[in-house]
Amino acid sequence: MATPMSSHAVSMLTDKDADEWCQVQCTVCTGFEKVASEEAKEVLGVEKVRVGHGHIVIRLPVKNTSKVLTLNGVDNCAVLIHENLHFGFGSNEEGCMKQLQYLVENVDWRMGLKVWSQVYSFHLPISEKPVTYPVDFGSVIPASAIPLKPKQEKSNRNDYGKKKRRCKMEENENMNKGDKVGEELIECDVNIEEKADDESSAEVTAEVTEAKTTKKSKRPFDPTKPTFRVTCHRSGENHAFSSMIAAANFGGAIQTYFDWNVDMKDFNIEVILRIVNDSISVSIALTKESLHRRLITNFGPTTLRATTAYNMLRLCKIQDGDVVCDPMCGSGAIPIQASVCWPQTWNICGEIHHRAMEKIEGNINAVNEQRKEKMQPQLGIDVFKWDACHLPLASHSVDVFITDLPFGKRSGSKKNNWKLYPAVMYEMARVAKLNTGRACLLTQDKKCMFKVRFLLFA
Ligand SMILES: C[S@@+](CC[C@H](N)C(=O)[O-])C[C@H]1O[C@@H](n2cnc3c(N)ncnc32)[C@H](O)[C@@H]1O
Repeated sequence: MATPMSSHAVSMLTDKDADEWCQVQCTVCTGFEKVASEEAKEVLGVEKVRVGHGHIVIRLPVKNTSKVLTLNGVDNCAVLIHENLHFGFGSNEEGCMKQLQYLVENVDWRMGLKVWSQVYSFHLPISEKPVTYPVDFGSVIPASAIPLKPKQEKSNRNDYGKKKRRCKMEENENMNKGDKVGEELIECDVNIEEKADDESSAEVTAEVTEAKTTKKSKRPFDPTKPTFRVTCHRSGENHAFSSMIAAANFGGAIQTYFDWNVDMKDFNIEVILRIVNDSISVSIALTKESLHRRLITNFGPTTLRATTAYNMLRLCKIQDGDVVCDPMCGSGAIPIQASVCWPQTWNICGEIHHRAMEKIEGNINAVNEQRKEKMQPQLGIDVFKWDACHLPLASHSVDVFITDLPFGKRSGSKKNNWKLYPAVMYEMARVAKLNTGRACLLTQDKKCMFKVRFLLFA
């Protein structure tokens, strides 16, 4: 496993190229791209941030790359080392795989490894060029080369795939809820499903790559070279290949090119191949785990990503002295994020469910323990067991309400939302400060939200 950058690390940054610039691609919960780009500009002092669907691309000096990992609103980061918006994929699998093999020669590995070495380290210098350039990349790995598992296992695999997709969908219930509603969220649901499929496929594929390449060339493990894996994310139609086979062939070509060791689990370098319709990009991951896991230790069934909580708070333009309230706080992602990032606010939150109360207390205690060790002040959060439809708070006393409503899928029911949403909204309207009070509410129950909003504010 690559270790984070330390004093023993072999950095590839020299004085000569310390002023070079690179592009870092960061994934963002759909709907919050603009909010995340504003944070990037403010924190990194950069002017150019490109906003795409579910991601932002930040242009910044190579020497500042690791600062990207301090952003609160982004999930995964990777240095972009090749991008082609019109790749021109062929119409048959073999042709497309040949194109992917030769793509390896056009990738800016020098930049990728230089930026990677700002965050991770390997005990020896990693050459950015092959020792000898391969004459060709050999025959492509065809889809038929992927061994079919015996029937029993195959059906298990399908079950697993379904479970994994369902699980990802549920996880994404919180991950991809944005303040934007309507078509955009529907579009996002479709992408999530495809992505979940593709990601699992890519993992299988890369294992295949390992098996195939090792079998073919019987390469012994070379401790002087790093380990790597390829992850392929593919969306769009009319591809004559699967993500699995794309990851396998691109990974095989990288191995032929650099002689790096393939390792799916204990890898130093993760190369990400992203294919969207006819566009393609290659990047090297700068995060091994999504940054959304930063503050929460006790995850509940509907825990909101810390990154999404941050983006919701940022959207509300929190000011010093604001009273911020999450009336349905679950395991506490919103109040904890608010208290950490806006320490000059007063945070109140509450829950109806006793098990959620245990989770939020556990999460606050865990953060406070860490802060004690770092000699930082304890979080300022008041937690109540209450019913959000009857808040024990004075009228016009709260500046900002931020909450993640039950969608009626994993928490509550859609039927119940017809009673719950209007009751909670009336109560928030009573408690919010006149004229300056604001609210940011997250839900996937769009139908109910639209109708309730219409009834309340028509
Ligand atoms: C989508 S979850 C919130 C998740 C939370 N943001 C987190 O990070 O864990 C909605 C929460 O609302 C709570 N809830 C439902 N009805 C409520 C009510 N009437 N009063 C207070 N909380 C309620 C549920 O117990 C659930 O924990």
